[in-house]
Amino acid sequence: MGMLEVPDRRYLGTRATAPGPTGPQMLPAFGAIRRDPLAYLAHTWRTHGDIVQFPIPRPPSYLVCHPDAVRRVLVERPRAYSKETIQYRALSLVTGAGLLTAEDPPWRQHRLMLQPAFHPRQLEPLVGEVELGAARLVDRWQRLAPGAVVDVERAMLRAGLETVGHALFTEDLSGDAAQLTDATLAALEVVVARARVPVTPPAWVPTPGNRRLQRANAVLDRTVARLLRARRAQAASSQPDVLDLLIAARDDRGQGLTDREIRDEIVTFIVAGHETVAAAMTWCWALLAAHPEVQARLQQEVDTVVTDAPLGLQDLARLPYARACVDEALRLYPPAWLISRKALTDDRLSGAEIPAGALIIMSPWIVHRHPQFWTDAERFDPQRFVEGGTARHAFMPFGNGLRLCIGRDFAYAEAVALIARIASRFTVSYPAGARIPAADPSVTMRPVGGLHLVVQPRHEPGLSLRA
Ligand code: HEM
Repeated sequence: MGMLEVPDRRYLGTRATAPGPTGPQMLPAFGAIRRDPLAYLAHTWRTHGDIVQFPIPRPPSYLVCHPDAVRRVLVERPRAYSKETIQYRALSLVTGAGLLTAEDPPWRQHRLMLQPAFHPRQLEPLVGEVELGAARLVDRWQRLAPGAVVDVERAMLRAGLETVGHALFTEDLSGDAAQLTDATLAALEVVVARARVPVTPPAWVPTPGNRRLQRANAVLDRTVARLLRARRAQAASSQPDVLDLLIAARDDRGQGLTDREIRDEIVTFIVAGHETVAAAMTWCWALLAAHPEVQARLQQEVDTVVTDAPLGLQDLARLPYARACVDEALRLYPPAWLISRKALTDDRLSGAEIPAGALIIMSPWIVHRHPQFWTDAERFDPQRFVEGGTARHAFMPFGNGLRLCIGRDFAYAEAVALIARIASRFTVSYPAGARIPAADPSVTMRPVGGLHLVVQPRHEPGLSLRA
């Protein structure tokens, strides 16, 4: 690694250790960041290189763009970096001390306890549930007038919520599960709104947003308490869902999770597992609609595997091109577009000294476009994943290392099954004059204005799937 040319700059007492914009350059940039954060990140990277320091004194803040440096943070020295960042502090207002925001030591203990809920044997019933959701969707779309335009993003969000809800609670006839997901999403909305303004009052100040957050959190607490009471009164199920597994989980000293810990994990799974998968599927359709030749190739594959019989987990292994389409969508539009860490000790990344306490910002959106690892990076070409050959650490839609997404296989099973089922029944295209929407990065990356596509049945109606 060569030495970095760093101009002698100081930011209110903090030494500059990497290239980056100056204070006066930053001021006009705030508007650009608010308008289009992705374009700003990419511009900053192209202008200053693989490691960029922002002129912010507390904490010193770095954008880390090179896959090797990102691997050092996430894989090689995970204990030298923590999640005590503004991003995770905001999220923990909703998710509490759930797995996504927790720090070691409770994190490791909980990860081991929760791992069984994501065991491959839990995926078989998941695929069954995705198929039921897909059948409802196929029925709805089959009844549309020819040439009808569908809000595909909404359809994917609905499917994502149904699937994660079912995996967590199976059947819940009381309506508590629906109330719980609604309250989670309401709380999340407040947190997102907070992130969009530069100065936010602390959570205890009774602003309208904070009051909404408190109300949503109170609903969450009450609803989880009710769900837990009802579930504990029931006999054990032969097909345990995630809630059953959370109630039964024990650490190596035989200790179970408290009600509060169960609440935090459930809310975490809803937050982490709903919009992310929906976003991945939405962008996959956005790209397929723009590339009819890729869509035709996908349909060729699914036609050899997908029949009127329900798909099983083993069928998904026979859909490598569908999986590659999902991967390529995750590469170009990674739903979790920003990953942050706090450096706990001094380190060196891409040749720059990083002081303890620094904020490290990593973006899969940038890493997935790094020209040293991706040829023709902007091109949608699922074939690159069929052929392999990609350095694995340059593809990180689910993070990497110890804190890798626990729901990765869950997400792939859901996305591949749903995309394959729908591609076997419909062709999607843009209405005249429309094209791939711009990306709006919030908690996940969503299409500006949604995704509206023409959905054309490929076969005669009446062959609707019966699961
Ligand atoms: C396409 C869908 C998904 C994407 C892109 C995604 C992305 C990510 C990323 C990037 C991380 C690591 C964050 C970091 O290191 O700072 C993560 C962690 C996590 N994800 Fe996912 N995720 C997805 C689906 C899911 C699903 C379906 C669930 C659960 C039902 C889930 C639950 C979690 C949890 C609990 C963590 C924290 C794991 C830990 O730290 O031990 N995710 N996810």
